[in-house]
Amino acid sequence: MRRKLVVGNWKMNGSLASNASLLAGIAEGLNGTGADSAVCAPAPYLAQCQAALQGSKLAWGAQDVSAQAGGAYTGEVSAAMLGDFACRFVIVGHSERRAYHAESSELVAKKAVAALDAGLTPIVCVGETLAEREAEQTFVVVRNQLGAVLALVGERLNKIVVAYEPVWAIGTGKTATPEMAQEVHARLRAQMAEHNAIVAGGVQILYGGSMKPENARELMAQPDIDGGLIGGAALKAADFLAIIHAGSSN
Ligand code: 13P
Repeated sequence: MRRKLVVGNWKMNGSLASNASLLAGIAEGLNGTGADSAVCAPAPYLAQCQAALQGSKLAWGAQDVSAQAGGAYTGEVSAAMLGDFACRFVIVGHSERRAYHAESSELVAKKAVAALDAGLTPIVCVGETLAEREAEQTFVVVRNQLGAVLALVGERLNKIVVAYEPVWAIGTGKTATPEMAQEVHARLRAQMAEHNAIVAGGVQILYGGSMKPENARELMAQPDIDGGLIGGAALKAADFLAIIHAGSSN
């Protein structure tokens, strides 16, 4: 049985003061029931997360990582550096990085490997745009995105988390129906089973895209939806906690 996992992606939001109250609010409300949980903060705030959350049930991580181990790569942050701040997770291949920073699936795969090499769990994001869905290309697009990662992670498939985030559902208030999301999640799991039938059943596949307290339970009740990657609703302690707790009774 896969455990549920709810991860907040803060994106480029926050400040020392607002993070402090958000983290305190979340940590206070975690009562041991519900999904496992984590927040992925902007890199400058990872030390703050580490100081505030050490010893709590809430894990933390980053939103991106360099594919390179170190050296002359101005502005980049290595996986080892994230490890220095005790990050457990790092998001790779978020659609905003693919769209605004032209990240290819091959680069995303290298980032996933860099994370694994440093002992971090990469949360590998895949998802189609609205135009791709309307052109009935959803399965082709996500298959190519995941396939590039599978080719490089090899036998370490059991150490990654996958997140299906339809681009048209991110920050739009439009959510994939539980059935639509489940259909894609099942395809992703089948693809992983082609790669390694023994471990595919244990890989967590999160849904992301306007997940909120009102729809989280229904989404996470689907057989292949193992939690959520939460944007906007992760910035309010009460909403994020409600989603974490929605992960308990399925
Ligand atoms: P929203 O929950 O704001 O739609 O964002 C989803 C997302 O992109 C999480 O990575």
